[in-house]
Amino acid sequence: MCGIVAAVAQRNVEGILLEGLKRLEYRGYDSAGMTVMHRDALTRHRAVGKVAALEECLTDAPLPGRAGIAHTRWATHGKPTAANAHPHHSDDQVAVVHNGIIENFEGLKRELEADGYTFTSQTDTEVIAHRLAAMLAEGVTLFEAVQQTLGTLGGAYALGVMSPQEPDVVIGARQGSPLVVGVGIDEAFLASDPLALLQVTDRFIYLEEGDLVELKDGGHICIIDRQGQRVERPVHTFEYADGAASKGDYRHFMLKEIFEQPAVIRTALEGRLGKTGVPAESFGPDAPGLFARTRQIQIIACGTSYHAGLVARYWLERYAGVPVQVEVASEFRYRHPVVADGTLFVTLSQSGETADTLAALRFAKGLGYVGSLAICNVPGSSLVRESDIALMTHAGPEIGVASTKAFTTQLVALMLLTLALGRDRASGDEQAAMVNALKTLPDTCRQVLLLDDDIEALAQAFAEKRHALFLGRGAHFPVALEGALKLKEISYIHAEGYPAGELKHGPLALVDSDMPVISVAPNDALLEKLKSNLQEVRARGGQLFVFADEGVGIDDSDDDVQVLHLPGVHEALAPLLYTLPLQLLSYHVAVLKGTDVDQPRNLAKSVTVE
Ligand code: G6P
Repeated sequence: MCGIVAAVAQRNVEGILLEGLKRLEYRGYDSAGMTVMHRDALTRHRAVGKVAALEECLTDAPLPGRAGIAHTRWATHGKPTAANAHPHHSDDQVAVVHNGIIENFEGLKRELEADGYTFTSQTDTEVIAHRLAAMLAEGVTLFEAVQQTLGTLGGAYALGVMSPQEPDVVIGARQGSPLVVGVGIDEAFLASDPLALLQVTDRFIYLEEGDLVELKDGGHICIIDRQGQRVERPVHTFEYADGAASKGDYRHFMLKEIFEQPAVIRTALEGRLGKTGVPAESFGPDAPGLFARTRQIQIIACGTSYHAGLVARYWLERYAGVPVQVEVASEFRYRHPVVADGTLFVTLSQSGETADTLAALRFAKGLGYVGSLAICNVPGSSLVRESDIALMTHAGPEIGVASTKAFTTQLVALMLLTLALGRDRASGDEQAAMVNALKTLPDTCRQVLLLDDDIEALAQAFAEKRHALFLGRGAHFPVALEGALKLKEISYIHAEGYPAGELKHGPLALVDSDMPVISVAPNDALLEKLKSNLQEVRARGGQLFVFADEGVGIDDSDDDVQVLHLPGVHEALAPLLYTLPLQLLSYHVAVLKGTDVDQPRNLAKSVTVE
């Protein structure tokens, strides 16, 4: 989703801004632009498509200068065109970059048009530029102009603003969309996330909701909060494993991230397992008290994270005896939920900045939940800061838009939660068996990844297909949903995940030789039922691709069935393991189809608007 980079330095910032935009490419976008202050005038380039297109403009006509703002746009209001790309200018008096949505822009636009301002884009953002210009014309400072304008804006925003009236100043503001300040030596930066600025600093200030910040020449940083009070925010040093945000020898980030899973799962477990269980303290000092008051759980998430929540429902109910509800954030936030006593509110999010998940957490705060737990991959993110307790998933930066290692480490975290809440319920032997299975999980995952060549060969069968069906039962139903989501996200093949028992209530009508059906078949209590469901597919001429335990006895002697065997694993952890071949399958199908694997069309990594 839209990315912002800004800099005020004592050197040329064009290269810093461009590199920042490249590092934000993973968020998903469709056009890019940059404005730099050159000899006290705003100079700008904008281009549709990749940052490389903007780079070409800069090669032809560089934008030298010591202060600038830059942006990658993910279209919401108006098509991806150069005119709609940011920065937006007003009469060369103001330049603005914006992430978020100004919900009351139509009314503001009418007023500004009546005052004689001409709009050159279809965006909501342009109203901000003109409003600021109107304020500046009244003689206020840029900081005051932004402060007053913000009071008139409804919706969500992260902003970067410049004006030739104060050529060595950049103003930033955040309300509902992420923005960090990069602290340099005698220079200062803004960005949508720290990854964009790691080439220039590893020190960051995470702005709070409602904060307004002024960056000035010389590294001067001044923050005021939503009450208008000057505040000092802590400076955090970003801990960052070398190479974590580069592809290394892999063709795509997604493939690299799939293969990182054994290592990051190990990291996610580090220091959190006891000998025969998971101490509640693994979730922080406040967790034991909170867990003791927890009688049920409400899980909220979006996209892939939502699927992790669905798996966790099976685990928490079976192994911890805790009733669980799971819902997508965009629905929950507009419901009127009835909250049972002792309900813990759990959010799952890779980024910790997903607008709907954050809004759901804020909405939940007034509803009487016993407390909130965030399971998240980004320390310092809004979700982590605003939750009562948080467990980090330690997956490291995930760059591919399609989530892989973030999902499996969320599952690890959710299994830890299951074990922590189930301490008094499950038998010691049962807990110890699961703890041991977790300890060997990284090695078992490594064995599954050895199937890569076989899965690549299997992918050939999908390259020409337009639809696919994924089936699973029990905790593997969400695995089927996730498999289908991965395939549609990156290969653009229409795919649906179904609980196999529902096949005959609709999807069976679609099954023929053109509809590949993928199933996950671990050796669990539902295996025989699943096998009957798979027979229903074969009887209709469907092509079956089954990922199964050794010895589950699925007959693959005929051409209509292909079976790939996975190593055995504790039944509870099978959903995690069976996710890996489905990730590899979508990856190889997408490569065969020649799509943009890491940045699929129309999608964003971090969905910071509603
Ligand atoms: C976007 C991403 C997905 C992700 C979802 C939720 O749709 O493309 O990969 O699962 O947002 O993101 P979160 O950061 O909250 O897990």
